Amino acid sequence: MNIGIFDSGIGGMTLLHQAMVLMPHENYIFYADTDHVPYGTKTREQVMSYVDAVIRFMTEHDCKAVLIACNTATAVAADRMRTKYQSIPIIGIEPAVKPAVAESEGKRVLVAATPLTVHEKRLHKLVERVDDGHLVDFLELPGLVEFAERGEFVSDRVTAYLREKLSGYILDRYGELVLGCTHFNYFKDTLRALIPPQVHMIDGSLGTVRQLMRVLDARHELSEPAACGGVSWEQYKDDICVRYFESGREITDLAKLDVIRGLHERLEEMRKI
Ligand code: DGL
Repeated sequence: MNIGIFDSGIGGMTLLHQAMVLMPHENYIFYADTDHVPYGTKTREQVMSYVDAVIRFMTEHDCKAVLIACNTATAVAADRMRTKYQSIPIIGIEPAVKPAVAESEGKRVLVAATPLTVHEKRLHKLVERVDDGHLVDFLELPGLVEFAERGEFVSDRVTAYLREKLSGYILDRYGELVLGCTHFNYFKDTLRALIPPQVHMIDGSLGTVRQLMRVLDARHELSEPAACGGVSWEQYKDDICVRYFESGREITDLAKLDVIRGLHERLEEMRKI
């Protein structure tokens, strides 16, 4: 059986990549909803219907679990989808606000996400639960989703965009920057260069994949005991079985699969920052 992982686009590969390193013996379906990307600037009704269609696809493709590799889709649709598709576990990534507040040592926490995530009640409820000291601020970065989908990860335009967006914050007051959209991980090198050294970047991908592992383990559905510390990407990358889909159409074109290989290499680099 497969683990189904999806996002509006290539951002979700952040979680796919993390899952492949921790569970190299699983079979994966990765679904990028490229017909509808971006999700973060759509209405919640639109995103709800896109997510519903993707999860239906996963249930029809022999999946033992679905990982929502999109903070926006989790914020809008995870609860409704869990009620609707009770036969399959649905795990969703969320902005890592809780660990960020815990680790910020009283400094401020900047949560970067898509506009839809930032406006969803779910994020504000999460912040209310964990942010006793009122340390959390929000930053919408929809432009990064567009840059990522164009494959533009490092450029003067990316730097100028981020510099402008960050200019409204006194960054010396911050301890943590939460990457609350899976597309943002592709930009960790530029972000690192723009924020002060004491600001730590954090995202929910490792915690979410670990949660998926726990759920599969409890259901006795792990193909092999998971590699808790992770395996070497270099050693395993060509042996892991993944099928890639764009809004339901399987990618078989070799040039496109080559681009995907390049994205994994970039994510592997970003994982080390
Ligand atoms: N990557 C997604 C997220 O984590 C959504 C990006 C978008 O489609 O706007 O929120």
